[in-house]
Amino acid sequence: MVCLSADLKALKPDFMLITGDVVSVQTREAMLSARTVLDSIGIPYYPMGGNHDFVLPESRTWFLEAFGGILPEPRSYYTFTHKNLRFCAMDPWWRWPDGSLRAEAPRLAIDSMDESLKGLYWALPEEQMLWLEGVLSRNQATPTAIAIHYPAVPTPGRLQKPDFHDGGMLENGPELMGMLAKYRQVRAVFAGHTHANFIERDGLVTHVTTGGLPEFPVEYRVVEVYEDRMEVKTCGLSDPSFAQRSLIPGHGYTSGAPADRATVIPLR
Ligand SMILES: [Fe+2]
Repeated sequence: MVCLSADLKALKPDFMLITGDVVSVQTREAMLSARTVLDSIGIPYYPMGGNHDFVLPESRTWFLEAFGGILPEPRSYYTFTHKNLRFCAMDPWWRWPDGSLRAEAPRLAIDSMDESLKGLYWALPEEQMLWLEGVLSRNQATPTAIAIHYPAVPTPGRLQKPDFHDGGMLENGPELMGMLAKYRQVRAVFAGHTHANFIERDGLVTHVTTGGLPEFPVEYRVVEVYEDRMEVKTCGLSDPSFAQRSLIPGHGYTSGAPADRATVIPLR
């Protein structure tokens, strides 16, 4: 964290987009500690929830207690603009064994999530789909990126090695992409969750999914925004020993192929 913090301070981005799994244990104290750690970097940031954050009935209350004061609106999903680029951060819910979609996790997830994500599914509730479409329909002139913990497209086949634990995708990703396709201003979906870097193009939308920072390849994305494009590149820590120590032999592929590590996203 000391190395990452120093690297980010040197980089001086306008802000950080934190695509979920902010904490690894489900307590109020963990969420408040995350706020303290993130604040200590001294760079504005926009956090959102992942499967490790929004688990219990109280989870969103803790999230908003920690971060509500810095969010553009005190809610677990929100939108903001920065220098004529719009971002929409989403809060997917859990699919329960009875087929219902709920904000809190089913027992199966609470018991087994640290070992396996098998049998766990997430989707955007109808309310958020309607909210998102409302935002997009009212702001068609502003280039827009969606930020969501779960990728809206499947993990590409090039990552599906025999020992790769695929964390899965947003269950209603195809429905989301169908809706986004109606709005030409939507150009990117930034996601996490997969513990591997990949970039996939789907019409006008580029999906940029980034691995987890605490494990190999210990990287983040840097997005430089110009009038007509976003340039995405992938950066490791200035001290490469963190990545080297967390590399499970044979898992080097999670850093992605060259096309998973850099791209240019047109904004016009
Ligand atoms: Fe996750």
